[in-house]
Amino acid sequence: MIPSWENRIVYITGASSGLGEGLALALARCGARLGLVARRRQLLEQLAAQVEAEQARAAIATCDVGDRAAVEQAFGQLEQQLGPPDVLILSAGCNRFMSIEHFDAAVAEQILRTNLLGALYCIGAVLPGMLQRGAGHIVGVSSVSGFRGVAGSGPYSASKAGLSMLLESLRADLAPHGIAVTAVHPGFVRTPMTAGHRFPMPFLVERERAVVIMLRGIERRRRQIDFPWPMVWALRLARLLPAAVWEWIGRLLNRRYPPRRRAAG
Ligand SMILES: NC(=O)c1ccc[n+]([C@@H]2O[C@H](COP(=O)([O-])OP(=O)(O)OC[C@H]3O[C@@H](n4cnc5c(N)ncnc54)[C@H](OP(=O)(O)O)[C@@H]3O)[C@@H](O)[C@H]2O)c1
Repeated sequence: MIPSWENRIVYITGASSGLGEGLALALARCGARLGLVARRRQLLEQLAAQVEAEQARAAIATCDVGDRAAVEQAFGQLEQQLGPPDVLILSAGCNRFMSIEHFDAAVAEQILRTNLLGALYCIGAVLPGMLQRGAGHIVGVSSVSGFRGVAGSGPYSASKAGLSMLLESLRADLAPHGIAVTAVHPGFVRTPMTAGHRFPMPFLVERERAVVIMLRGIERRRRQIDFPWPMVWALRLARLLPAAVWEWIGRLLNRRYPPRRRAAG
């Protein structure tokens, strides 16, 4: 049976923008109680006002998800205001394209810290409570970029591959405790993250469509939500290519779309 969202408590990281914000607005319309997490307080406050205009309840907490102590504090605040989460949606994430001549380990660290360690810290903050209650659902927004190492985007690909592996491992660990784990692998979605991209984005999905697909899958507690299917199949097939062929494709990609020019700014 598909659970109703009415009065269910959902924590969303990366709620100030893009997919996280879209999910929050859609869940507010379904009557969920929302814990909204990101760094930009003003955007969270505006979103909370929109949620409350839908007669739903929202609490906000600001933190950098890459700071474990800050995550624990923020989640503690949400728990005091709303109660513990039925569902945790991990949407906080960042990316930056880097040509190898300008490789910056600090930027790479930031990407891994946010996308992988950030997810880990948030999971760590809710896990003891979910285990105690014998119920819960963890949803991680990974990416098709984690299916294979994408040239010019190594730290992002690595962070998403790591996140997908983490979620896959946890799924088996947590199933006997009544806790579901969903990994989301979107292709390109129109959000602020992709707004500055200066290269063709095949099968680009509008945010509202992505939100509908994600919520449908989350309601059914699907193990994976991968979309859009042409992009997903292209990358699944890419997994079967020999390393030399994938390297050749990566070199072509770098020549045609040099990483430093793939995004504005
Ligand atoms: N858009 C796509 O095509 C696409 C495709 C595949 C996967 N994804 C994944 O989908 C997720 C959402 O991305 P989006 O497209 O919605 O991008 P977005 O609009 O840029 O949103 C990213 C969100 O993450 C938050 N965030 C970033 N760094 C953070 C940090 N250190 N601590 C706390 N929050 C942080 C941002 O909030 P603050 O800046 O306020 O902290 C923002 O709310 C990401 O994990 C992304 O990798 C996106």
